[in-house]
Amino acid sequence: MLNVLFVCLGNICRSPLAEAVFDHIAKEEGLTNHFKSDSCGTGGYHIGADPDPRSQEIARIKGVPMDHKARKFSSEDYDNFDYIIPMDDQNYRDIVSVTGHEHPGLHLMREFDNEAGNDRDVPDPYYGGKEGFRNVYDMLERSSRQFITYLKDKHQLS
Ligand code: 4NP
Repeated sequence: MLNVLFVCLGNICRSPLAEAVFDHIAKEEGLTNHFKSDSCGTGGYHIGADPDPRSQEIARIKGVPMDHKARKFSSEDYDNFDYIIPMDDQNYRDIVSVTGHEHPGLHLMREFDNEAGNDRDVPDPYYGGKEGFRNVYDMLERSSRQFITYLKDKHQLS
């Protein structure tokens, strides 16, 4: 069993959607038994909150089930997860500053997006409109598919 944690700032827009998309694709591929996923935020402003209504809307449109309450990242997450996947560079730096060191499974989400080019970040859609959430969804879908392919190869899953 591989434990995978998706991290953003608020844990209401990007990372709960990343978790839901990852689970949905893993289910499609019959790999559910190999993975346990979760998400959290580096900030504590929304602890206990449901995902943002705009993330809920795009998940509903795409037929992706999502059920999450926001929580904050803690250094114990380093012990409990095999993979820690921040959405952007700031999240990455905040994780390393909380824990004081890197983690062998720490990867930016868009390391797995073959359309990322020089863009390293899943951009924060919080202050924008619905278009930003559609854009985020597409990045998360591409990244999750390729991340799952990477995990299948690396851990010889089938
Ligand atoms: P997220 O988006 O990090 O993708 O969940 C945000 C949600 C809330 C805030 C910032 C980003 N906020 O500043 O409250």
